[in-house]
Amino acid sequence: MYELLQQLRSESALTKNEYKIPFLLEKLRMHDEATYFHSVRVANILDDFAKSINIEIEKRKIIKNSALIHDIGKIFINSNLLQKQGKLSELEWEELKKHALYSDLIVKELEIDDVDYSMILHHHENIDGSGYIAGLKNYDISMNVRMIRIVDSFEAMTAKRAYAKAISVELALEELSACKHFYDQELVTKFQSFVQVQ
Ligand SMILES: [Fe+2]
Repeated sequence: MYELLQQLRSESALTKNEYKIPFLLEKLRMHDEATYFHSVRVANILDDFAKSINIEIEKRKIIKNSALIHDIGKIFINSNLLQKQGKLSELEWEELKKHALYSDLIVKELEIDDVDYSMILHHHENIDGSGYIAGLKNYDISMNVRMIRIVDSFEAMTAKRAYAKAISVELALEELSACKHFYDQELVTKFQSFVQVQ
């Protein structure tokens, strides 16, 4: 893991700061195309949602950049595991969960600018503290993180994938309100209004 990180660092050493995110996205696309497309879609939906609730452009740039590389740590996870169909063993699940930590290590090691590190490390935290990496609760989870949590799940539920059926937008929105223990419901209501006018 440390070696892979060092390798990535030396490969990106000559890359200008503004090209480091595209550099990482290309790595992700080569490793796991589905995660690459997921990340791009999450970033675009999140940017439009943030715009709809009047978040200013400078903050949106940071939100979008962070969303683009929130799952970048998956490049250190075996692609067979990423693409595995069916139920994961407890060990496999524990391994998969590490991607948030790996994403955090990568963005810090490569000194990526204009990102919100907490969105990357904490994008799987739940409102009731049952999420990972830290089990943060309620307003200990920043607004940016609570936003990406919603959009990340929404995209995962509605996207067509080779190995899983997509569910309809309506059903996905219902799911977001049903999972009160996962998502900030005030933001879910705003997200539902945003999706409905799209
Ligand atoms: Fe993730």
